[in-house]
Amino acid sequence: MKAVGVHNSLPVTDPQALQDVDIPAPVASGRFLLVRVRAVSVNPVDTKIRLNAGSRLEQPRILGWDCAGVVEAVGEQCSLFKPGDEVYYAGDVTRAGCNCELHLIDERIVGRKPASLAFDDAAAMPLTTITAWEALFERLGIVRDRAANKGKSILIIGGAGGVGSIAIQLAKQLAGLHVIATASRPETEKWCMDMGADEVINHREALADEFKLIGCSNVNYILCLVGTAQHWHGMADVIAPQGGICLIVDTEANQPVNINLFKPKSVAISWEFMFTRARFQTPDMAEQGVLLNEAARLLDEGVLRHTRTEHYGQLTAANLLKAHAKLESGTMLGKLVLTVG
Ligand SMILES: NC(=O)c1ccc[n+]([C@@H]2O[C@H](COP(=O)([O-])OP(=O)(O)OC[C@H]3O[C@@H](n4cnc5c(N)ncnc54)[C@H](OP(=O)(O)O)[C@@H]3O)[C@@H](O)[C@H]2O)c1
Repeated sequence: MKAVGVHNSLPVTDPQALQDVDIPAPVASGRFLLVRVRAVSVNPVDTKIRLNAGSRLEQPRILGWDCAGVVEAVGEQCSLFKPGDEVYYAGDVTRAGCNCELHLIDERIVGRKPASLAFDDAAAMPLTTITAWEALFERLGIVRDRAANKGKSILIIGGAGGVGSIAIQLAKQLAGLHVIATASRPETEKWCMDMGADEVINHREALADEFKLIGCSNVNYILCLVGTAQHWHGMADVIAPQGGICLIVDTEANQPVNINLFKPKSVAISWEFMFTRARFQTPDMAEQGVLLNEAARLLDEGVLRHTRTEHYGQLTAANLLKAHAKLESGTMLGKLVLTVG
């Protein structure tokens, strides 16, 4: 089958950084579904793995962890899906990704595709939705109860990116929080407001100064999606006493952060890594399928909206490389997708 893979870790400017390849089609067994891929999205994790895949790989590393497609066959232990079902999912970073025609995926981390969305629009959603959902409702422990959250607020740093676009919606629509998002350009500021943010501040300025400008003293929660080290002191300034912060991005080795900054306010710091459940086969890994189904229902009911903004054409090495370049520019607004087949 056709796929796009990596043989050598190369910069995005090198046309060989991604290659069109022909690889054997996989076979469904156990709890794995064989899915005919119809559309994929691209995330920063794809570019990070491309740059760290190694050199002269005998077998190409297949990237891609955002998929919408149709179940073609099921393993003998599968019970949740059948051939013909339309599905969407992010997958498992320890396994081959979905930049291919036929893809194997553990059924426990698969959701039914939102019926109202085209495959292209559905493919934009799974990875970022899982990340934002787990961060808000599991790591930060925010309840999905608008009345219970009355008067509570959240700062979402990196509001217009893939994760931020759905995090704003979940925090506003499901939890009823007062949402302050960050953006640094007029178009990303507008997008954050369109997603449901109550206020937008500039992440290129000191957070405390920006809070003064909007007359806000602090927030109960912070979801930091970009620039953990860059915003470390700013987060310590604006988090409320006994508040919670969730991080999703590593600090660089040359950017040590001081955890003690958060002791005076007794701040709870948590991590979200959306591949944890699949990677460690946690007993509750099927929760990802459950949350994807719940998100599909909310998308179909119009409570949430898809975040696709761009289409990069058919899945080919050349088109996917353009998509990687866009992601690496750090200027993504919403999500981009490619069609497969
Ligand atoms: N732990 C996990 O499970 C997990 C899951 C998903 C993603 N991630 C990681 O989370 C990060 C964000 O992912 P994403 O998909 O949302 O990325 P993305 O779509 O590429 O994010 C782009 C956005 O980042 C904003 N931005 C750029 N520089 C910033 C800064 N210094 N401070 C705050 N915002 C800034 C930009 O806003 P402006 O253009 O307005 O500046 C842009 O809208 C990536 O590093 C990704 O690898 C982790």
